[in-house]
Amino acid sequence: MSKAGALDLASGVGGKIEKNQVLSAVEKYEKYHACYGGEEEERKANYTDMFNKYYDLVTSFYEFGWGESFHFAPRWKGESFQESIKRLQHFLALQLGVKPGQKVLDVGCGIGGPLREFARFSSTSVTGLNNNEYQISRGKELNRIAGVDKTCDFVKADFMKMPFSDNTYDAVYAIQATCHAPDAAEIEIGDGLPDIRSTSKCLEALKQAGFEVIWEKDFAVDSPLPWYLPLDKSHFSLSNFRQTAVGRFLTKNLVVALEFVGLAPKGSQRVHDFLETAAEGLVEGGKREIFTPIYFFLARKPESDSQ
Ligand SMILES: C[S@@+](CC[C@H](N)C(=O)[O-])C[C@H]1O[C@@H](n2cnc3c(N)ncnc32)[C@H](O)[C@@H]1O
Repeated sequence: MSKAGALDLASGVGGKIEKNQVLSAVEKYEKYHACYGGEEEERKANYTDMFNKYYDLVTSFYEFGWGESFHFAPRWKGESFQESIKRLQHFLALQLGVKPGQKVLDVGCGIGGPLREFARFSSTSVTGLNNNEYQISRGKELNRIAGVDKTCDFVKADFMKMPFSDNTYDAVYAIQATCHAPDAAEIEIGDGLPDIRSTSKCLEALKQAGFEVIWEKDFAVDSPLPWYLPLDKSHFSLSNFRQTAVGRFLTKNLVVALEFVGLAPKGSQRVHDFLETAAEGLVEGGKREIFTPIYFFLARKPESDSQ
């Protein structure tokens, strides 16, 4: 379970947005989406503003309900949710074949949960790239607490315009982040996505960019437990209580109370509501096998380019 408490949740809603501007940020964020009349072109043109508003609004909810790593994972029977999250991070380090001391880039790093685990597991130095200032400030604090602040850092930049020269890093990974790229319902609005694209389009884009794809697989296909299980209201787990139907009901009421007494900014309940809508959309998309957040690929630059 996450270490963040109710007061962290309340004080974090809105991130770097002024507390009295949170409600209008929620309204502006909702208006980007088709179900509120938003146009695709406007979403693409304003994707930085859209996803920054989204992450300012939701980060403390994610941390409260999900922990320090903001992604899904394939999961074995008997494995806890947090174990499955860490196993995926270890798997990525092994797939990338990194060696102690190497420099690694985490693209779209959230508050750095994956990069801390990756760095500790592989003894590498990991830089997190993120365009959200609030998440970077949280990540720096958590790096310090975890004792990896000497070897791991953050860079604030848009991953569509990376500020690094070629071969700065020995390896690069991204976990559930490039879905926010602008060139490419419920899941879109509740997860800050501009427009969802198919796995075949991702593969095609990789090849067109000149990468050699070593292997790819949708882990959703044969994960013994479905990736959406933590969000499925019919599933109960004590170790993951905050994600269950009862836990979410209590969180909702907690947010209503915190907003009422002024500890959480106005608009906090609206954020909880759109996250709830997203959770339902994700479970539905997972059950109908029309959406996956755990499509994996391993690719490399062709030999001649990587010298
Ligand atoms: C779902 S979160 C995943 C975070 C992290 N990979 C994890 O698993 O904890 C997506 C992340 O991508 C970042 N992001 C989205 N679009 C970005 C962009 N254009 N440039 C840099 N970061 C971006 C967001 O700020 C957020 O941190």
